[in-house]
Amino acid sequence: LERALTIAICGLGTVAQGVLELLRNNASVIAARSGRPIRVRHVASRSEKPGVDLLGAAFTTSLDSTIEDPEVDVVVELIGGEEAADLLVRRALSAGKSVVTANKAIIAKHGDAYLRLARDAGVAFCFESAVAGGIPIIGALTHGLAANRVRWLAGIINGTSNYILTAMAQSAQPFAVALSDAQALGYAEADPTFDIEGIDAAHKLTILASLAFGVGFRFDDVYTEGIDTLNIEDIEYARQLGYRIKHLGIARLVAQGVELRVHPTLVPEKHMLASVDGVMNAIMIHADAAGDTLYYGAGAGAAPTASAVVADIVDIAKGTAVPWLPATHEDSGLRVVNMKDIHSGYYLKIPSLDKPGVFARAATILSEHEISIEAVIQKEQAVHHETDRAWVPIVILTHEISEGAMDKAISALEALPDVVGPIKRIRVEHFADV
Ligand SMILES: NC(=O)c1ccc[n+]([C@@H]2O[C@H](COP(=O)([O-])OP(=O)(O)OC[C@H]3O[C@@H](n4cnc5c(N)ncnc54)[C@H](OP(=O)(O)O)[C@@H]3O)[C@@H](O)[C@H]2O)c1
Repeated sequence: LERALTIAICGLGTVAQGVLELLRNNASVIAARSGRPIRVRHVASRSEKPGVDLLGAAFTTSLDSTIEDPEVDVVVELIGGEEAADLLVRRALSAGKSVVTANKAIIAKHGDAYLRLARDAGVAFCFESAVAGGIPIIGALTHGLAANRVRWLAGIINGTSNYILTAMAQSAQPFAVALSDAQALGYAEADPTFDIEGIDAAHKLTILASLAFGVGFRFDDVYTEGIDTLNIEDIEYARQLGYRIKHLGIARLVAQGVELRVHPTLVPEKHMLASVDGVMNAIMIHADAAGDTLYYGAGAGAAPTASAVVADIVDIAKGTAVPWLPATHEDSGLRVVNMKDIHSGYYLKIPSLDKPGVFARAATILSEHEISIEAVIQKEQAVHHETDRAWVPIVILTHEISEGAMDKAISALEALPDVVGPIKRIRVEHFADV
């Protein structure tokens, strides 16, 4: 038998405990697929967890000791957070250890640096678990679809947001109620900012786009909008128009470069992504040879995430995880498209005075901006009284137009005396090549 692969697990929280349990429960199948046993030599974390089986490993509170131990082949970073994890990953790679991490936040920001450190040291840097938990999406992009040019990818990559949107749509729960339910069920953190503001999804989209298009890890260039501005009324109007509202990460190759954006999106109700509900994740990739492929599964949780972490460990054990560098932004020559230049359909909700002629004036302004209307909902009864004047929403679905043109049209509409407040805009996605 070949020498065991020796690993150090850093962190002893949800994912790390899942990894230990999986390594124990599936030890024989994992060893068979690795071609050699996996030995956990250290578990390093802030505090010991009595009752957790460390598989014979020594517990230490010193992360450094895992890096200093010449026996350790792989450092598995599962402490989360940013500063300490970033330092750990850099030091481990520089010391010639392969690194496996689930930490999307640090990869989205420093992924280019990590991959360079790994290449210089001749070790592997693996992060299957960082995007969409149990779904092998990194493997799909780097291996399964390696022969393709990816045209676009779109995904539901934050389970918390998807859970909240599903509860709002199916149980008519207001946003705040759905959020506190998600927290009570353990689907949302006590501080849900990263999830509901779209930051977590932007981290993951950064990673997917870097692999799909070779644009580097460009987190700062991702346009990010969360679900915190949506209400049940929008979800209901979208439904009447034949759409579901999903929080999507979209990366698309267009003539000017790559669009990178995360925002609530109207998805046609017949599209497969429209029926991905609850905490589930799904990513669709449109590639030139393979066509459309769809990946669906659990995006988080101890066991699904551990499944991806251990898959990386098996790859390293087999020797198939090699140092590599996706083509950088500079090499690929692709730039990230300015948000004003993206093209999309739009859902507009215009709060208007309840009097004749308002829709006609709005339609004129849209047509002056060369925006054509696909569908309209005008509800005479749905009168709102939050402001001092009663108003009715005019809901308009438009055909595709540039975001810049839409910005101008919205400013012109908001300047109408009949329009009594800010116009709500939600982008519409038809999943087509551009
Ligand atoms: N949970 C999921 O479903 C999931 C899915 C995909 C990716 N991830 C990613 O996986 C990583 C771990 O997530 P998790 O849910 O397992 O987090 P967690 O339950 O909070 O576990 C973190 C562990 O690391 C320890 N720790 C934190 N900071 C440390 C430090 N500076 N030095 C030493 N130990 C430290 C903690 O110690 P204490 O026990 O003393 O607090 C805890 O044991 C994160 O990057 C997360 O984004 C998680």
